[in-house]
Amino acid sequence: MTDAKGDDGRLLRVHVMRYNPQDANSTPHLETFEIREAAGMTLYVALTEIRETLDASVNFDFVCRAGICGSCGMMINGQPGLACRTLTASLPKDITLLPLPVFELISDLSVNTGKWMRGMAERLETWAHGVDKDVDVDKLEERMEPELAQEIYELERCIECGCCVAACGTAHMREDFVGAVGMNKMARFRLDPRDDRSDADLYELVGNDEGVFGCLTLLGCVDVCPKDLPLAGQIAFLRRRMLKEAL
Ligand code: SF4
Ligand code: F3S
Ligand code: FES
Repeated sequence: MTDAKGDDGRLLRVHVMRYNPQDANSTPHLETFEIREAAGMTLYVALTEIRETLDASVNFDFVCRAGICGSCGMMINGQPGLACRTLTASLPKDITLLPLPVFELISDLSVNTGKWMRGMAERLETWAHGVDKDVDVDKLEERMEPELAQEIYELERCIECGCCVAACGTAHMREDFVGAVGMNKMARFRLDPRDDRSDADLYELVGNDEGVFGCLTLLGCVDVCPKDLPLAGQIAFLRRRMLKEAL
């Protein structure tokens, strides 16, 4: 087979973890699929081809195919990443795909990040407090300096893909750890003038081992975040604020 440029594509060997925890007869194992690489092929495209031509029962998640929805996170040769943003050309011929750890496994490469994210969001109350008590449209529309809006927007770019959690040693050891994604959200609300919570309020939520004091500065989160969020800086910022509160 030749690709669009007329070059022979590599023969890829894609090893996919197969396991359905709902099926008593299912046992975790790797299944190997061979497909011909095409120009510009992403892992999402490779998995779709596998599903369309070799085995329709392979489960994996996707929605946007553009690095926006955060659904297609998986372990790609041992590292968390987005299938739709990973070119097969950036990988060797043998590609091993496993589901993201820490999250509840649904089946094969599909995990329930939504359940984890909702639990974290409810625990940390990741919404602007104050504005919802007494909705005042004028206050909601209050002018914000563009620099501050930009700073908040920068942290808002998180797509809740879960890669930072899967890459974090602390998250592997304690299931109540809020991860870099949770701390990033807290830092985002700390910046937002519409959120009337004080540092003391935030201390109650993340001034503990489930939050900033559980982070061991392993920085795996920084290495894998597909949106290149400034996680190290935000965690350090939050830690300084919480330490001040603790003293
Ligand atoms: Fe994904 Fe980055 Fe958000 Fe973590 S912080 S969930 S890696 S986008
Ligand atoms: Fe984990 Fe990132 Fe801290 S990998 S330990 S949240 S610096
Ligand atoms: Fe939406 Fe990959 S399918 S981020």
